[in-house]
Parts: sequence; structure tokens; C-alpha cells
Amino acid sequence: MSLSRPAPAKINLGLHVLRKRSDGYHDVETVYHRIGWQDTVSVEAADGLSMTCSDPDLPTGDDNLCLQAARRLAAAFDVDRGAAIHLEKTLPVGAGLGGGSSDAAATLRLLTERWGLEADDDTLMNLAAQIGSDVPFFLWDEPAAYATGRGEALESICTADGTPFRLDATIVLAVPPVGMATPEAYAMVVPDDVDRPALKPLVASGDLGRWRSELVNDFTEPIADRYPAVDAARNVLHQQGADYVSLSGSGSAVYGLFTSPRQAQAARQTADREGYRTWLGTA
Ligand code: C5P
Repeated sequence: MSLSRPAPAKINLGLHVLRKRSDGYHDVETVYHRIGWQDTVSVEAADGLSMTCSDPDLPTGDDNLCLQAARRLAAAFDVDRGAAIHLEKTLPVGAGLGGGSSDAAATLRLLTERWGLEADDDTLMNLAAQIGSDVPFFLWDEPAAYATGRGEALESICTADGTPFRLDATIVLAVPPVGMATPEAYAMVVPDDVDRPALKPLVASGDLGRWRSELVNDFTEPIADRYPAVDAARNVLHQQGADYVSLSGSGSAVYGLFTSPRQAQAARQTADREGYRTWLGTA
């Protein structure tokens, strides 16, 4: 019998690249927010570990994060059984939406169940952080998390009444045909940890007017300067009346937040016509 689960994407609400670290990573702070666009991962019992994917262009070798997740989990719990993993790939690759990381987190959850492991949350979070900086977020239960360190140290983010923060705008994504490699994107940013606005309360305010003037993803300007298609995607969403526009992660996906669902629909249609891969939905 096959087990399956969704692997949703994330967007970043603000992203400060604070400083370069001696281990080659950067200290960052950001808020991750899950959205309703997703891949689906399924696993079946099998002799060895293997993987297939609906997208023939996606490598399914040892570098694939699903297989890395499976290997790390098997090693941590001395598992000698295998699994056949299948990935139904919907999310764009190299877009800053965390698709590969989310697939890895879904694989950890599925194989924990399939192999009947007694894995506590801390152990899974540690394994997740070894796979990639944003993998732990995809094991997080709440819709959003404030992240520090290299993006793996997570805290709840709550509104003034103490409930978990959740975006209530309509989201339109415009994904330019540019695949971004994260290390190269980091090389384009000058780290800055002086006088940054306090990100967590700024995001928790949910005030899109404040976000417009204060909430910054440090990758947005350098990536838009370097890639005209990213800049153009940003302009389309602005011109179509988005209340807030930003790059997600290190790109190349650009998102617009709309308080008017009707305007969001119109913006999506325009972005479609201009040749972007698009998605419209809520968080
Ligand atoms: O953690 P992850 O595997 O996603 O990181 C990929 C690459 O992105 C790292 O090897 C590093 O070059 C860069 N990175 C960084 N600082 C971070 C996260 C990633 O410099 N906080």
C-alpha cells in the first residue's frame, strides 16, 4: 500500500541577509509562510531505495533531496528496509519556493510512518536541517515561522491576540523562466546587520501599507537588476494593483499580495499573457 502526502511551497515575508559566517553560510532572518501550491510525495515498501518523478527533467539520483532525506533517516535509525519514492512534481524548480526542501520534509514524515519509527520532533528537525536550511520549516505545524541562524532556527509568529499569524491576502505568483542557484544569489547580496527593522513584529502586524515601505527581501534588488524577467514580473504585479510585491527567497519567483481577489485574478491573467508561469491562491 502506498502512503502519500502533499509537499506545499513557501514564500518569504521579508528576508534580511545579516552577515557571512565562517562556515560559508549566511546568518539570515526571515518569515516563511506556507502556501497552497504543492507537490505530492508518495512512498511504497520496496527492497532497496529508489525514486521516480513525474517530471523527466528532474534528476532522481543521489543529489535529489527526497533520496537524501530517506538515506539520512535510514542511517539515523539503522533501518535496513527500502522504499520506492514517487514525486508528482508541480512546483517550479530554482524559484525560491522551497519545493525540493518541502519534498524532503514530506519524505521524512512518510518514511517515519512507513518504517514505523519512533522519531521525535527534535530528531526529525535535526535531520531536516542537515538536508537544507529551509527543510525544518516544512515540518513546522503552524502556517508561518520566524527563522534565524541560516534559516533553520524557528520560532512561532503570532498576531496581537496570540493566535498564529496567517496571511489573509490573495497571493499571485509570477515565475520567470530563470532557475536560480542559491549560492550564486547569495554572492550578489552585500550582508547588512545595521539598523534593520524588527522583522517579526513588522510581519506580525499584517499591515500591507507598512510592509510596502519597510518589509524588504535583500535579494529583490540585486536579482531584479541582474535578471530583466524578474524585474518585469515585479512591474506587472505592481501595475496590476498588488498591495505588496516581493521576490520569494533568492528567486526567481515574484509574488504579489492583493486585498482584492478580483484584482488578483486580473493580475494573474496579465502575467499569464506575458508568458510567466503563474499561480493564484491563499495561504
Ligand atoms: O542550506 P542549503 O542547502 O539550502 O544552502 C544552499 C547554499 O546556499 C549553501 O551552500 C550556501 O552557499 C547558501 N546559503 C547561505 N546562507 C544561508 C543558506 C544558504 O549562504 N543561510
